[in-house]
Amino acid sequence: MRSLIEIQDLTPAEIDELIATANDIIANPKKYSEVCRGKKLATLFFEPSTRTRLSFEAAMYELGGNVLSVSSGASSSAAKGESVADTAKTVSCYADIIAMRHPKEGAPLVAAMNASIPVINAGDGGHNHPTQTLTDLLTISREKGRLNDLTVGFCGDLKFGRTVHSLISALMRYTGIKIVLISPEELKLPSYVRDELEKRGIEYTQTADLVGAMPELDVLYMTRVQRERFFNEEDYLRLKDSYILTPEKLKAAKSELSILHPLPRVNEIAVAIDDDPRACYFKQVFNGKIVRMALIMKLLEVHA
Ligand code: NCD
Repeated sequence: MRSLIEIQDLTPAEIDELIATANDIIANPKKYSEVCRGKKLATLFFEPSTRTRLSFEAAMYELGGNVLSVSSGASSSAAKGESVADTAKTVSCYADIIAMRHPKEGAPLVAAMNASIPVINAGDGGHNHPTQTLTDLLTISREKGRLNDLTVGFCGDLKFGRTVHSLISALMRYTGIKIVLISPEELKLPSYVRDELEKRGIEYTQTADLVGAMPELDVLYMTRVQRERFFNEEDYLRLKDSYILTPEKLKAAKSELSILHPLPRVNEIAVAIDDDPRACYFKQVFNGKIVRMALIMKLLEVHA
């Protein structure tokens, strides 16, 4: 029984395999429409979500399986004070696999240690979000045809953005990767992630200047300022519009740039950019459902 708590739980070879399965699902969706018949996915979401929860659920339905869902902490026994461990043991009696999102860092790991079925971390606080990373890697690989030899810019809330932390950890394992960290001083990448970059000898730079960094980027990963992780509203209001990507700012970019964003978008990307062929964020949403289908199959050990 395997769980996915952080992206390093998968080897690069396993990630390649998931990407290959995802590409095959896109090419031959019918082949996969019954593979999870009789299986149940429980989505336990103790934090808001649209895409991640619905994409897990859509993924399971498209594999022919069924879904049980808790969509808010307030509507579950967590509100009565039940521990994550007890919730995990309970849900193991009802379902075959769990996808859990939780505001506390480490909660899905605790669930995995107590469940008798695989647990997928669907986002734990400001820490990790490995299935968004699989989504991002599938998108980069489909857009660029490779995961090596790329200059990837991360812009916005690099401190609290869990998708950033997970994607950087994943990219460290490929060759020829250069990371450009673009953020205000207060929202810089946490030192534990920077230490990892240094330990692995990955080339990276830090700047506050998005337009200055633009010309060298192959991928630009925009992020939302994570309001729910701030200790006070004033800081959020001061920082929320630090970066707004506009057609004007894109003038300095490569014509083959790929613009990613895990979504939800607040203000960071002008709607005028949505029709630019470089905008990939809605393709990313589609890819997220597909790669979660591949992941559910892998963890349930079912094959087409
Ligand atoms: C992200 C998340 O929840 O961390 N959203 C998502 O899962 N696609 C990014 C965010 O909320 O800003």
